[in-house]
Amino acid sequence: MKITVLGLGYVGLLTAVGLANSGYEIIGLDVDIRKIQMLQNENIYIYEPGLDEFVKENAKKGNLTFDTLENVSCIDSEIVFVAVGTPSQSNGSADLSQLNNALEYVVDRASNPLTIVVKSTVPPGTGKKIKEIYLEKASFSHSYVSNPEFLREGQALKDWFYPDRIVIGGDDREATTLISHLYKDINAPIVITDVTTAEMIKYASNAFLATKISFINEIANLCDLTGANIDGVVQGVSHDPRIGGSFLRAGIGYGGSCFPKDVRALDFISTINGHSFELLKAVINVNNRQRFIPIQILKREMGLLSGKKIAVLGLAFKPNTDDIREAPSIEIINLLIGEGASVKAYDPIVDGTEKNCYCQEAVFTKNIWEAIHEAHAIILTTEWDEFVNLDWFEVFKYTQSPHIIIDGRNVLQPRLIKEIGFKCFGIGRNT
Ligand code: UGA
Repeated sequence: MKITVLGLGYVGLLTAVGLANSGYEIIGLDVDIRKIQMLQNENIYIYEPGLDEFVKENAKKGNLTFDTLENVSCIDSEIVFVAVGTPSQSNGSADLSQLNNALEYVVDRASNPLTIVVKSTVPPGTGKKIKEIYLEKASFSHSYVSNPEFLREGQALKDWFYPDRIVIGGDDREATTLISHLYKDINAPIVITDVTTAEMIKYASNAFLATKISFINEIANLCDLTGANIDGVVQGVSHDPRIGGSFLRAGIGYGGSCFPKDVRALDFISTINGHSFELLKAVINVNNRQRFIPIQILKREMGLLSGKKIAVLGLAFKPNTDDIREAPSIEIINLLIGEGASVKAYDPIVDGTEKNCYCQEAVFTKNIWEAIHEAHAIILTTEWDEFVNLDWFEVFKYTQSPHIIIDGRNVLQPRLIKEIGFKCFGIGRNT
């Protein structure tokens, strides 16, 4: 069966390669000629463990090809997956312009009836509107399916092969059955719903996970004030299966291309539907506030930060990705620079200068030792293994008094770090 995948970002690329791996004939399309040229040479443009080998392996089999949108005049596949971005607009709403362009493109070039599957995260109700605007007056009778994606950056391959569930929303039984069969190699529960419910499932999932993070961050903040220890609290509460233990790691807050934008979009959707989603507003506010904590600690410990040398370890919003979208690190660097500090930042994968981190006055170093050289304080913003496994005795020799470490991800062993001579602060760890 021939399948087109339109939009080759994280989700689209994984979908294209994953389905090619299941034996389907895949053509991946993107507007970006640079991406296409790289893929045609079996290279990829995102850092994702294992993905380059997976692309190479499947490209060799011959059932995976890539092209630019411009080069394709006719779509003759049976299924088209649409996986374009839906970024935040300044009012928090999702910008659907890429999606609209993609649908117009698909409908214009279709040479037969298609099953159009939207993987992009879109506000509940979008599918219904798309059907009215694009599909009802199309030359062929196309079906529409919502198939939201739940993969995580950094472990996208694992999430493709072992998802917790597959959600398929559609009003046409034949179409939902067709799409369910595509996933026959994957052993996961399949949830079949209507289109709007599938769209809502994606927002509810991300918003719930973000809520867990902001909730535990507030408990951690209270731990710091009362003398409790967040690690013990999480251990204690997570034995209750109704609560569970995942997504309860306190720190400087969530970032990335999904949680921040999806939580804001859901808040916006609530507002335009006449509902004020108070809990979500609090989730956003708590998350924004967490990023100030390292600066507050530094000011408390050192007074004015002007002229102080601060090393920021980690730019990516989480380990095993080169994504810096809405990464707490970027805001923390800018806050430090605003206080007059001299900032050096290092990330094992992200080259801050190349990635245009918008931190003009920060210095991005090629290795960790340059970043920490004579630093008064270190802020750990991303829990890369390289940082967790550092020789902290060696680090101590490079830094200068007051030798502060702020563990923004609660991954270091505070007792050990303190024994070396550092002043170590986590989030809610009271150590
Ligand atoms: C998230 C969801 O987990 C995926 O299921 C979803 O498919 C994806 O968004 C999306 O909508 O495309 P992702 O953004 O890749 O995936 O990253 P997560 O692993 O969920 O982490 C998000 C942020 O939360 C990171 O900044 C991480 O550091 C933070 N986090 C996570 C915490 O602060 N504490 C935790 O306990 C867990």
